[in-house]
Amino acid sequence: MTTTLNTKRLTDAVGAEIIGLTTDDLRDDQVAEAVLAALEDYGVLVFRELRINPVDQVEFCTRLGEVDYEEGHHEVRGIYRITLDNAKRPNAHLMKGTFQWHMDGCTPLHDEAPQKATMLSAIAVAETGGETEFASTYAAYDALSEAERKHVDSLRVLHTLEASQSKTYPDPTPEQLAKWRARPSKEHPLVWTHATGRKSLVMGAHADHIVGMDIDEGRAVLDDLIIRATDPSVIYRHEWSVGDTVIWDNHGLMHRATPYASNSDREMLRTTVLGSEQIR
Ligand SMILES: [Fe+2]
Repeated sequence: MTTTLNTKRLTDAVGAEIIGLTTDDLRDDQVAEAVLAALEDYGVLVFRELRINPVDQVEFCTRLGEVDYEEGHHEVRGIYRITLDNAKRPNAHLMKGTFQWHMDGCTPLHDEAPQKATMLSAIAVAETGGETEFASTYAAYDALSEAERKHVDSLRVLHTLEASQSKTYPDPTPEQLAKWRARPSKEHPLVWTHATGRKSLVMGAHADHIVGMDIDEGRAVLDDLIIRATDPSVIYRHEWSVGDTVIWDNHGLMHRATPYASNSDREMLRTTVLGSEQIR
């Protein structure tokens, strides 16, 4: 028997609200399967005021795949605390990099595949700003003309930490620069042909340049693609209420947080589901 979720589409290109589910329902393996299928269809799923506790959040994510247990500065393993407040976690200010459109996992430390999905729950929200925005990179590919697809199909892009961080910190210290450059860069095809056969564009603030193309010319191509993919008419912007939970498919989306104050109380709890599919 398959479980059918009650979904309400949020925009034409991306996002659906899942209606009527409780945290108890999430203990059901068939619900987890239905959530995975809906993620593939909609990219972003919103559970308004689900009020899931951190333990249940991690438990649910284990039904979706392998959970990332990196140190998250939270008492529950598998929870990573997101805040700009340095008192709540070290290097919290580095989170400002997430104000740029990006995909997670394009510059892996050890060649691991990009994360499959991310779940975020709101503990406290910002007074102003702090929304999370999502842009479908499947839709971005689908929107290209036949001639554009032909052009981008064979392009490869070098992704670096420096490219993304320098957009947030345009005047880095030599120490900052050295740290960014210590992170391995990674070349990916611009077009990801997924195991499902669907195609998406792999881009974001971390996309430094197109390999083998004049640097400025390549950046102009990337900028144009990103601007079109993130046009306000095609994105979903989630305005958080305390207790909301959102999960997204990192393989087919770019995301960003809109800026909020460094002294804001905003606090999100994140759980990451690791991926196994390499970009090819
Ligand atoms: Fe992110």
